[in-house]
Amino acid sequence: MTEPGSIRFPADFLWGAATSSYQIEGAVHEDGRGPSIWDTQCHHTQLVRDRHTGDIAADHYHRWADDVDLMADLGLRGYRFSVAWPRIQPGGTGAALRAGLDFYSRLVDRLLAKGIKPMVTLYHWDLPQALQDAGGWPARETAGRFADYAALVFSELHDRVDLWATLNEPWCSSLLGYADPSHAPGHADPVEATRAIHHLNLAHGLAVAAMRAIDPAPRQGIVLNLSPVHVVGADPAGAAADGARRYDLLRNRIWTEPILRGRYPDDALADLAAFAGLPLEEGDLAIISQPLDWLGLNYYNDEFVRAQPGGSWLATPGMRDAVPFVPDGPRTDMGWPITPDGLRSLLVALKAVYPDLPPVYITENGCAYDDPVVDGVCHDPRRIAYLDAHFRAVRAAMAEGVDVRGYFVWSLLDNFEWSHGYHKRFGLVHVDYDTLARTPRDSAAWYREVIRRGGPGAAP
Ligand code: FCB
Repeated sequence: MTEPGSIRFPADFLWGAATSSYQIEGAVHEDGRGPSIWDTQCHHTQLVRDRHTGDIAADHYHRWADDVDLMADLGLRGYRFSVAWPRIQPGGTGAALRAGLDFYSRLVDRLLAKGIKPMVTLYHWDLPQALQDAGGWPARETAGRFADYAALVFSELHDRVDLWATLNEPWCSSLLGYADPSHAPGHADPVEATRAIHHLNLAHGLAVAAMRAIDPAPRQGIVLNLSPVHVVGADPAGAAADGARRYDLLRNRIWTEPILRGRYPDDALADLAAFAGLPLEEGDLAIISQPLDWLGLNYYNDEFVRAQPGGSWLATPGMRDAVPFVPDGPRTDMGWPITPDGLRSLLVALKAVYPDLPPVYITENGCAYDDPVVDGVCHDPRRIAYLDAHFRAVRAAMAEGVDVRGYFVWSLLDNFEWSHGYHKRFGLVHVDYDTLARTPRDSAAWYREVIRRGGPGAAP
């Protein structure tokens, strides 16, 4: 019998934590690494708060072995990390750098030695700057370059890594990078963003094909940040409903429909015609839609849109007289609302729309809270409550028939939070950016216990 309030996950559920290369590695000039678009964003624009950079980050490039030991101490069963493309191909093309491959190969070996299953993400936003100079994601050639790079990394690691993700959150790479300048390369051009959307989808498909041609056994997936989108408040003219539809299209359906069904939604073709249209060529949709072994979902919160005359949002080009909006209620330090039931409803709705949905991994979920370290301890009850609520939401979706296989908390460590620099702390483990010392928060010990028991105990 389980105690009241406690829940159980399957024994083989993959409990893990996630990070990404630019956010934790540092060592940006070492071993031949080339510059990425995020180095440029940090060093040559004003778009990152306080002009923070990833030059040192959490210094994981030097501390990787200790960091794996830390993961083992936390009892993690899985670890999701990304490979820095500019460490493998500093200019985005050509032969792989041995030092770059060796870094990730050693990391994988140590993870496996500790019984931690690696999940590799090939692209978590650090495009080699040379490829941006050649046109970036708006250029079709970049999709082919990505497949070449994927094959290089896969050739090195496919014998030891079973779970592969092509892209992380292509919504961010296209719409935040090229339409809303908050992400690298910091452009504000909806025509570029529209082209980037299709070329990211194509890059995913080409990379899956390239990897399967080398070895069909490892499991291929992609990581999407899907989210329910809701209309809030009065909407007599229907502007908010139209804005929410457009947001849902660009955030959700423009990825799931081509990838899972081999077609673009009709409203994608209609809406994006205003931005020169998707640069679709014959055969592309077949490449994009080859069967996936798993789908990764990053979920932080539901999204809300309300009517606002004159309002618009660059990241949803075409949104008029409506804006995204955060309703009253509890928020994290990101200002993001806390909506755990949205994760359950997202999973259940996906399964309803796509009955043959592949197995799902929650590839990111977590929250920023800046609780201090005092006398070597960090009490972070709000993070524990947030994670507890989201674990329960996933378990509820599983009870409703969704096949969820694992869960990776964002993040293992505090790290470089993109345009927010080091101001937002997501880690189970606190990082002191002066000394780079790691201090596991209370949530880390709590998570270790969740993993050991196979689910959270009575609600905190
Ligand atoms: C996601 C990103 C991840 C991290 C979290 C907070 O969108 O994939 O790198 O920044 O948000």
